Amino acid sequence: MNKIFPKKPIKKSATLLFLLLSASAFSQSYNDLWIPDTLSGTNFNLNIKDTFAQIVNTGNQTITGAINGKFWGPTLFINKGDVVHMNVKNGLNDSTTIHWHGMHLPAVMDGGPHQVIPPGTTWQPYWEVKNDAATYWYHPHLHEMTEEQITKGIGGLIIVRDEVESKLALPRTYGVDDIPLVLTDRDFNTSNQFTVVPYGDSMMVNGVLRPQYTIPAQVVRLRILNGALERSYNLGFSDGRSFQVITSDGGLLAAPVSLTRYLLHSGERIEILIDCSNDLGKSINLRAYNSTLAQNVAGGDLFPNGPFANFLARKDFDVLHINVGAKTNNPIIAIPSTLRTVTTIPATDAKITRSLTISDTNIVGNKGVSFVINRKLFNINYNNYNLPLNNTEIWEITSTSNFGHPFHIHDVEFNILSSGGAAPVAAQAGWKDVVFIPARSTVKFIAKFDDYADSLHPFMYHCHISLHEDDGMMGQFIVTDQTTSVKTFSKTMNDFSVYPNPANEKLYFLFNNTDAKIYYVSILNVVGKAVMMLPRPEWKDGIDISNLAAGTYFVQLTDDKTKAITVKKFIKE
Ligand code: C2O
Ligand code: CU
Ligand code: CU
Repeated sequence: MNKIFPKKPIKKSATLLFLLLSASAFSQSYNDLWIPDTLSGTNFNLNIKDTFAQIVNTGNQTITGAINGKFWGPTLFINKGDVVHMNVKNGLNDSTTIHWHGMHLPAVMDGGPHQVIPPGTTWQPYWEVKNDAATYWYHPHLHEMTEEQITKGIGGLIIVRDEVESKLALPRTYGVDDIPLVLTDRDFNTSNQFTVVPYGDSMMVNGVLRPQYTIPAQVVRLRILNGALERSYNLGFSDGRSFQVITSDGGLLAAPVSLTRYLLHSGERIEILIDCSNDLGKSINLRAYNSTLAQNVAGGDLFPNGPFANFLARKDFDVLHINVGAKTNNPIIAIPSTLRTVTTIPATDAKITRSLTISDTNIVGNKGVSFVINRKLFNINYNNYNLPLNNTEIWEITSTSNFGHPFHIHDVEFNILSSGGAAPVAAQAGWKDVVFIPARSTVKFIAKFDDYADSLHPFMYHCHISLHEDDGMMGQFIVTDQTTSVKTFSKTMNDFSVYPNPANEKLYFLFNNTDAKIYYVSILNVVGKAVMMLPRPEWKDGIDISNLAAGTYFVQLTDDKTKAITVKKFIKE
């Protein structure tokens, strides 16, 4: 492995000693799994803040970042076909972004590195939910800060419901027979604080160390996210039982796939069913069988010391201790034999094959770079590809890297065509947004880039290992729409007024030009700081300013076509 050790040296020995001591002291004690709160409907308030949580059982609380709570964030239930509105308030002292991982939506709503939310600002993206029912997630994506902000615990799950999934006899009582499991690992220093390193010494599920949970003796669904910064988890059960995989990142599979192991990489999600009908009173462990991982898979790499050294490397370890308790009323007792029709994109539909490379490098970037896409570091000011709207494309990713990388693309869900020349395994033969690119291997996927074109805001593709991404293993593309021409109205953009002024609840715009199309509205305070950011707002119903403090503000409109900016002043009462 020609990986460099770029980061500040960590006092590993002290941490390890501490953990060994605490492991012996608490080896039999479990903590109850925390189930993230839920929010549902079409309007969501997400307050990102610095906070703290008692994660380690004894001693200091850990300084964390969270959304609404103390670690991680609420699970958002949204329905396919609904238009959902997000009010994302950045209460951190740093800028951040919130990316809706896996969602098909306009680039300006995507929350990638270009949709920066300054501290104190509320960002209000919205979109029509077009994704199929499955488990998605949201997390920070500020360039070069993703590893640090995810480490703090900022993120959350998104559960999309649709009619197809709702008609199936599947477990869907959240926290009862439908359990969210956010897998990650963290490194704690001797005062119980997170250190920002790729691999932790301690496994956590939903922010809980050594978690246990009681599930009913029936068919239970586990929604599993690999939310780790780097590690892959080779999941299985301690009694060797098989489980049924029912989804792959972006939707249901055609039929459940029975497996005893599933290697889940950073960013990926699976939903699985386990049948515990005959297990009342028993305990089983969900485990990571990582002792079998190769050196070139995240979590299989062994380092004696330095920032990559960690207690869990190439070991088998428990993820969740499961106790099987009483059945619920009307339990699901059977696993359906089929789920839905999955219509993948035929390879012959592709208009183009784009060839990308992944390679090891010695370029020294931000934190000391090891890996690059197309032999270039990410440059936020450089657009790597222009994709015509509605193009169906094959992306062929050839890796000469000696390490495996989970490759993720924004905007679309794709179908894997091949990995190392072979057709995808059954559990990955549906819709995906992360695909593992094994060391020295070629993977091809196909996707259609439909619905959303935007000349200003790109979508990203990158390795989902946060350190690699932050270091520059990322690129971006613009989806361009050459077929439609939008009328320019920039000459008349100045010709608008805001009313009422002073305003209290809502602010309205009056244009003389009836074709007025607004790309962006920012509301700036008197010193020019953005306090509200509204991509493509539904301005005809007025902009809700009821949360603004009284004072003088500027409203800044960006023209959809020309991106020219015009500013007007108003008073909030
Ligand atoms: Cu989950 Cu671009 O990220
Ligand atoms: Cu994403
Ligand atoms: Cu990588």
